[in-house]
Amino acid sequence: MLSIVTLISGRGSNFETIVKIAQKEQWPVKFAGVIANHSAAKGLEFACSQGIPAYAIEHKGYPNRESFDGALIQKIDALGADLVVLAGFMRILTPGFIRHFEGRLINIHPALLPAFPGLHTHERALEAGVKEHGATVHFVTEGVDEGPIICQASVSVLAGDDPDSLAARVLKAEHQIYPFAIKWFLDGRLRIEGNHVKLQPPESQFFKL
Ligand code: GAR
Repeated sequence: MLSIVTLISGRGSNFETIVKIAQKEQWPVKFAGVIANHSAAKGLEFACSQGIPAYAIEHKGYPNRESFDGALIQKIDALGADLVVLAGFMRILTPGFIRHFEGRLINIHPALLPAFPGLHTHERALEAGVKEHGATVHFVTEGVDEGPIICQASVSVLAGDDPDSLAARVLKAEHQIYPFAIKWFLDGRLRIEGNHVKLQPPESQFFKL
């Protein structure tokens, strides 16, 4: 049985959705732990309620990114992670961390990458006047919000949308695609070929929601 370690920074709604779907569909997976970079992260409470080991490793307690990431690596390795799931983890990771977990580190980003990497994606999408916005699940490589794309979901931008209404629609899409991407990984269906992720056997990796 494969083990997942999840990193969060806040609410943890993606994490919660993934755990609930895994439970409902009886995935053969162990949620070996959840780590937040501060103890107030809401998602830690859900983890505790499910008996999932929950840890806070406060980034403020470390003098630099390398030492914080070193502590994260140690904890994640001790938990025996086969897959590291970033679910709203709002820290930039060091190249050393990313190399350590290469090919088993995935992230969800609230935009149709490569459009709108970084923060405030919904505000920026509205400002740019795009008609479609969405979410991307990808393997993590060294650039910020970069790496081979596993799947994407798009939602229409509606007249009258504000950043909150758009964020809510995108979050719903995130909750639909992240479990798919993780299940594909667990089932050994993902092949990374250069900057592309092939799903075997093939199936659409794009969802219009
Ligand atoms: C999600 O919208 C996720 O895509 C975003 O943070 C939110 C976390 O929500 N992540 C990023 O912006 C990473 N670049 P959640 O804590 O409720 O899952």
